[in-house]
Amino acid sequence: MGFFDNLKRERGAAVPAAEPVVEETETPEEEAVEESLNIEDVEVVERVPQPRVSGEGFVPTEVKSYSQKKRVNHVVGQTKILAIINQKGGVGKSTTAINLSAALGALNKQVLLVDLDPQGNTTSGLGIEKSQIDNCIYDVLLNDTPLTDVIIPDVYEGLDLVPATINLAGAEVELVSEMARENRLKDALGSLRGRYDYILIDCPPSLGLLTVNALVAADKLFIPIQCEFYALEGVTKLLDSMKRVKTRLNPTLDIFGVLLTMYDGRTTLSRQVASEVRSYFGKIAFTTTIPRTVKLSEAPSYGQPIIEYDPAGKGSQAYLDLAKEVIRRG
Ligand SMILES: Nc1ncnc2c1ncn2[C@@H]1O[C@H](COP(=O)(O)OP(=O)(O)OP(=O)(O)O)[C@@H](O)[C@H]1O
Ligand SMILES: [Mg+2]
Repeated sequence: MGFFDNLKRERGAAVPAAEPVVEETETPEEEAVEESLNIEDVEVVERVPQPRVSGEGFVPTEVKSYSQKKRVNHVVGQTKILAIINQKGGVGKSTTAINLSAALGALNKQVLLVDLDPQGNTTSGLGIEKSQIDNCIYDVLLNDTPLTDVIIPDVYEGLDLVPATINLAGAEVELVSEMARENRLKDALGSLRGRYDYILIDCPPSLGLLTVNALVAADKLFIPIQCEFYALEGVTKLLDSMKRVKTRLNPTLDIFGVLLTMYDGRTTLSRQVASEVRSYFGKIAFTTTIPRTVKLSEAPSYGQPIIEYDPAGKGSQAYLDLAKEVIRRG
């Protein structure tokens, strides 16, 4: 789904009902890549998602232990670790973390999502209640708890979660006096390389030690940018941090992609911001744009990813398109 297609859809073109639509028109290059990746004939969302609730309300996701994880049904090759990062608040990091992970899971990828934000929005947005969690990423970073003791498996098809609780708020300060404080997350995730196709890290809106841990652990950065005033504000600072970490701690760190979020094609502002971001980042910007839609903001209160909450809607379609673009980028 291209940028202008989204624009047309925003302007009131009929959105096909029922099943989410799989993109059908692809360039020969895209077809070649999909063929080599063997994703050409992937059925996107075959099942009819069942709401976890009858009527209004919220039913928590079942919390199992890692030893109860369903068997992985395919051999996983290389793991790509992506940090979803932007120190500007409210740009769609957690929304993207949840919905991109779930979409990749629906496309048969094995995904581990790490909630590295003390706000725990990704954890609650996937239906995990804080009272159900004994240990969180804090215990991995500061108490040497093995990551597998913390992982909640199968929170969604193909998706495991490392949750965050408010305990993590202490980590910024407590890490300061620790040895190898910048490498804690990298060391923990290292043991899981090869078990997942993607490890996504939802970063907090700051450039503190938690974010530095993400910058050191990540192979690449995934930067959401909101189509709003001051969209690029702070991005230079983020790129500076990236360069510093690259020089000293993670020489191969780079940008994986830049994602335009909360796009509203009816407003001149959204269109201007999108064009400014695209001219600044060029091909690094994803073709897929995430539209502003109320369904995306409602889904977390039901503890569901958008492909479960509103499978036929434009939010679902956008995150599935994004997941396919992510897979194509390798
Ligand atoms: N595409 C969208 N359409 C409508 N609302 C959205 C969309 N994306 C995100 N939102 C809403 O915008 C708010 C901020 O999104 P989100 O929590 O994903 O941002 P964030 O970058 O993770 O924030 P923080 O920096 O606080 O962690 C949330 O209320 C979310 O539901
Ligand atoms: Mg967030």
